[in-house]
Amino acid sequence: MQESNKLEKIISLCKRRGFVFPGSEIYGGLAGTWDYGPLGLTLKNNIKNSWWKKFVEERDDMYGVDAAILMNAKVWEASGHVAGFSDPLVECKNCHKKFRADHISEGNTETGKLELPKECPECGKFGTWLPESKFNMMFKTNIGPVEDKSSVSYLRPETAQGMFVNFKNVIDSFHPHLPFGLAQIGKAFRNEISPRDFLFRAREFEQMEIEYFTRESEWKKIFENFRAEILKWLSDIGLGKGSVHELEVPAEDRAHYSKRTIDFEFDYPFGRKELLGLAYRTDFDLSAHINKSGADLLYYDEETKERFTPHCIEPSFGLDRAILAVLCEAYTEDELGGEARVFLKLKPSIAPVKVAVFPLLKNKPELVNKARKVFAELKKEIRPIVFDDNGNIGKRYRRQDEIGTPFCVTIDFDTLENDTVTVRDRDIGKQERYKISELESLIKKNIYGRK
Ligand code: GAP
Repeated sequence: MQESNKLEKIISLCKRRGFVFPGSEIYGGLAGTWDYGPLGLTLKNNIKNSWWKKFVEERDDMYGVDAAILMNAKVWEASGHVAGFSDPLVECKNCHKKFRADHISEGNTETGKLELPKECPECGKFGTWLPESKFNMMFKTNIGPVEDKSSVSYLRPETAQGMFVNFKNVIDSFHPHLPFGLAQIGKAFRNEISPRDFLFRAREFEQMEIEYFTRESEWKKIFENFRAEILKWLSDIGLGKGSVHELEVPAEDRAHYSKRTIDFEFDYPFGRKELLGLAYRTDFDLSAHINKSGADLLYYDEETKERFTPHCIEPSFGLDRAILAVLCEAYTEDELGGEARVFLKLKPSIAPVKVAVFPLLKNKPELVNKARKVFAELKKEIRPIVFDDNGNIGKRYRRQDEIGTPFCVTIDFDTLENDTVTVRDRDIGKQERYKISELESLIKKNIYGRK
């Protein structure tokens, strides 16, 4: 399959089958925004829940928060975002189209340096660039009815700051001992100059972030620990070792707050790109907020009687980029029974529909009634589950394949005789007979690894 076509096929499948729709579509859309439909939302929730379970619930050193998206503008002054959260912007003098300079620049073969193209990619005119400027990516808004400087606020460009400003609140209410972390899942907004590649670069997206606090002397050990945990979780959601790559980010490319960053990259159809980052943020953020707010954000160690500013390790996951990676990894074209088919080879644990139940024939009430019964019983324990009696059985299988449903249960005439059904495996299309009484534990074992 041509990689360039693959993204188009995934976008089309996502729209057709109710995973992801273009934002505000009936009004011509809104660039950089995407709406999740029923299946996309379930897939998203499954990925989110898996992350929360692994990085928060199963640990004893994590505290979840859900901070406001709108924050006092001083937060963003302290964090460095007002002064420095910008991308290089260039504008064509002729057609006035704006571009992110680093997205259209190419290496000069002689000097090796990045240079703007001689012709505008939009109108093709030669040598028309206005001088490069810096474009701050934060969405500005005003709080309350008066629109002046004092009412300016921003939609958060990262969830991280919501955790730094609540550091003291969590210390005061839970008295955690170092090392410990704060975790948050939530929306972030960036006024990207050129949103592109579907969910990869959007203007509104979701992050899953951890700010993990420790003594300076411990940061390397914790960094390595997260590095391993990240790879394990990526594998849990179906992103195998072969398609995830670690990139040690060189000092000149790191964010202003970072002393070490590893980008975990994924082989998207449009190239190997950042899926998530792991950064050592030092004590930059807590120190910046201490200086700006005057608040006491120091940690007091009762044993050693020391007071100090903890250092911070930050695993920062883009949820939408994870969803896109999962879809790209799962999208498969093959041939089954002599016919071409498309299926999503999703891990059963994150598939949006776990089981589909069919009566072999729609016009045989005894089959339909039995299938309804099996469906109702399974639904008590396994969800989401769907019932489908539309079209012929082959078409029903294909519909479920396309959304990644791992199991299809069919009620046929043998079922009426001996209470057995066929269970079809999505990946190989093979059907095997099982007793109805065995179904629940069989499916649960495959989906959740337990009966
Ligand atoms: N708190 C650190 C931070 O925000 P970042 O590298 O700017 O670091 C973290 O962003 C993650 O957020 C990225 O690795 C990516 O997964 C996701 N992300 C960033 N910009 C995005 C965008 N425009 N659209 C979708 N996801 C984005």
